[in-house]
Amino acid sequence: QTLRIAVVRGDGVGPEVVDASLPAIVAAAAVDGVAVVLTELDWGGDRQIRTGRAMPDDALDVVRRHDAILFGAIGHPDLDPAESVWSLVLPLRKGLELYANLRPVVGWEGLSTPARDGAKVDFLVVRENTEGEYSGIGGRTHRGTPLEVATEVAIHSRPAIERIARCGFGHARERGQTLTLATKSNVNRHGYGLWDEVVFAIGEREFPDVALEKMYVDALATRMVARPESLGVVLCGNLFGDILSDLGAPFAGGLGMAPSANVAPDLDVPGFFEPVHGSAPDIAGRGIANPLATVLSGAMLLRENGCPRGADALERAVAATVAEGSARTRDLGGVATTGEAGAAVLAALGDA
Ligand code: NAI
Ligand code: MG
Repeated sequence: QTLRIAVVRGDGVGPEVVDASLPAIVAAAAVDGVAVVLTELDWGGDRQIRTGRAMPDDALDVVRRHDAILFGAIGHPDLDPAESVWSLVLPLRKGLELYANLRPVVGWEGLSTPARDGAKVDFLVVRENTEGEYSGIGGRTHRGTPLEVATEVAIHSRPAIERIARCGFGHARERGQTLTLATKSNVNRHGYGLWDEVVFAIGEREFPDVALEKMYVDALATRMVARPESLGVVLCGNLFGDILSDLGAPFAGGLGMAPSANVAPDLDVPGFFEPVHGSAPDIAGRGIANPLATVLSGAMLLRENGCPRGADALERAVAATVAEGSARTRDLGGVATTGEAGAAVLAALGDA
């Protein structure tokens, strides 16, 4: 059995964290008897500067010939950040209809985080990934004049809410946790009013066994900081999910420990697995970036692609590496290089 992974290293620390992670990810797949076939794709900012395009016109066809995509980060110092994001990450997520963005936050043994001592943090942000505030619809009029106006239109459709709701409920059921719906329906009553209505209807009809609560996103932000251990699965729209998952990252040890998966549970398309962080230009090229967010994204990749034992083993190897302490990168208070941290996970995999 083989697993075909398209590898997009991207910009900044992207290549560093991907290179450090791949050996452990490939070795973990072997735990399930699966051989990994890698396709290296040079997509990203350098390609954009060289050719005018961050990825080729047939990019979607190329990735569709694979089971999954492992992605580092984009964000080139010589390019406009908005242009970078709209030239690669968003077209892939949208083009493949990867409507669910899963961002787990786990408190690792031995890492100091802002959580209270002894609090067991283990929640999952399920973010709608195709529309909402990131629809791209809008524009500017009276450019550069004192009367200039910009509009940025949020789209919330019933089918998109229904499918992400089922995904969120499914995870809450599997994890035995409460589903917390985060909206802002007291103010955005059209869009988030629809969210409340649709999610509660699906809960009643299809997931009566799953506990469901609704919170306004501002109050939820306070709760996430004050009592992160009280959260299970958080279901939200595109913008809130982006912000809440970065807000949660410190409870896992920071952005260097925050993985994510972009998936479409019921569609036959490759998932897109990436650390939550960006290209980290402030530390790029120095070999000090933490590769564990990418390793953990690799574990999510394996779990979604028929390698559950390898995924568990990889997460245990990360836990062992972090707990043991000598291979921690600078963001975790250590002195290890990116390569050393990746190698330590690979070594720990043998014992996991
Ligand atoms: P960032 O996530 O790149 O960096 C934020 C902070 O976290 C920096 O201080 C950085 O050094 C630190 N950090 C990030 N990853 C780390 C790691 N693996 N190990 C240790 N420290 C780490 O976010 P920022 O600075 O806002 O954006 C930089 C560029 O990345 C921008 O061009 C932005 O558009 C892009 N970006 C791309 C994303 C993607 O490819 N999916 C996601 C977020 C930002
Ligand atoms: Mg973000």
